[in-house]
Amino acid sequence: MIAKPADAKHEVAIVGLGYVGIPLALGFVNAGCRVLGFDADGGRVLELQNGHAPLAHLPPDAIAKALQTKRLEFSADKSRLSECEAVIICVPTPLRKHQDPDLSHILDAGEEIAPHLRRGMLVSLESSTYPGTTREELRAVLEKGSGLKAGTDFALVFSPEREDPGNTQSVIGDMPKVIGGLTPACLERGQDLYGRVIKHLVPVKDCDTAEAVKLTENIFRFINIALVNELKRIYSSMDIDIWEVIDAAKTKPFGFMPFYPGPGVGGHCIPIDPYYLTWKAKEFNYDTRFIELAGQINRSMPYYVVNHLLEAMNAAGRSLRGARVLVLGLAYKPGISDDRESPSYHIMDLLAKKGAEVEYYDEHVPKIPPGHGHWAGRSSMLWSERNLSDCAAAIVCTAHRGVHYEQLADLVPLVIDACNVVPKNRKAHVVAA
Ligand SMILES: NC(=O)c1ccc[n+]([C@@H]2O[C@H](COP(=O)([O-])OP(=O)(O)OC[C@H]3O[C@@H](n4cnc5c(N)ncnc54)[C@H](O)[C@@H]3O)[C@@H](O)[C@H]2O)c1
Repeated sequence: MIAKPADAKHEVAIVGLGYVGIPLALGFVNAGCRVLGFDADGGRVLELQNGHAPLAHLPPDAIAKALQTKRLEFSADKSRLSECEAVIICVPTPLRKHQDPDLSHILDAGEEIAPHLRRGMLVSLESSTYPGTTREELRAVLEKGSGLKAGTDFALVFSPEREDPGNTQSVIGDMPKVIGGLTPACLERGQDLYGRVIKHLVPVKDCDTAEAVKLTENIFRFINIALVNELKRIYSSMDIDIWEVIDAAKTKPFGFMPFYPGPGVGGHCIPIDPYYLTWKAKEFNYDTRFIELAGQINRSMPYYVVNHLLEAMNAAGRSLRGARVLVLGLAYKPGISDDRESPSYHIMDLLAKKGAEVEYYDEHVPKIPPGHGHWAGRSSMLWSERNLSDCAAAIVCTAHRGVHYEQLADLVPLVIDACNVVPKNRKAHVVAA
């Protein structure tokens, strides 16, 4: 095993304190480890130092309680990374404008860590990315900036995150964790670190394999969601309810796994990660045809939903131009505030282009954050009888719990339901889409 630095103050540093990094830091603290949280965003570090949990789905006192243990510290000073036995990188991996991978956050994190890398430290990358990133890209930045050699002077592993935001039943320690090392000695160090928190580690041959595991999981989901989205369109024209079909099909105890249709796919993972493989596959002269096809279907869903609205309004002799339309749910999935890549924004754009007066309602996203063009700064509509009655139609895009769907269906005359949550026995004309 690559010997650890003897004098480390913290077992682990987490670089990137977002949806993945914060729960991971808490997981290590709860397992008794001393943790240093580092983020390039000084405002976020300050917020965490003051005990605030910036993720709406975490208990509000989660950070404050962890700080009380004295095993957790947050800092915006990257030189403090040298105080740690291991550094885990959890930074974003978005796509560029033309759907090629944007590794800039990983490379920046590598450059931040490299000058403070000491002999015996372990670096683990958790960000989802294409096979070869850890071995080729991150390793080069770390070696260049530190003068040390990966695999002998320091350990390097890739261990993908399986965070399920908003799922209160999902406990970090109980989630099996895949890990691959640059060398067997690197893997050993990685297992030693994660073994303190995770009950079931799944070692694989190398970093490339571990990277491929993560992409495979998300591609599987991306393609299966596209499949049910396509089946929804076909069955709907046959007057068959896709939700009833899935509920019945999932009683089969083998060979079937339920996926559910929706208004498209969102979040920082499912609509993005598959294209990391698409890009890398080109280097090997391969096209990722399944991914392309699934992407076409998933991207077409907002048009499908808005088309249902147009048809229903047309049938009622009404025009979308000038009509007030309420979009319910901006988060990409129920119970969380993460609205990244949410298809709701695409639907809102389509509605606005057609002249509709767009409102939205989402208790988890009370105000639209920056990064959503002209929608940024808009506030969630106040839920009231009067405001609902002013709407000509509503589109349900996220199946958040706690929404009074009965009242919605009593007060808004037309509801397009992409999530199968609105009762059909109330006053509204409810259209499944
Ligand atoms: N969100 C999820 O549910 C989820 C699940 C599994 C895997 N992942 C993957 O995990 C990675 C992180 O995703 P996330 O959702 O936590 O992102 P996030 O945007 O919520 O958080 C990332 C954090 O990293 C910080 N950051 C960016 N560049 C930095 C740098 N150079 N140095 C230090 N900090 C930096 C940002 O300020 C931010 O606080 C991505 O690769 C994502 O695909 C996410």
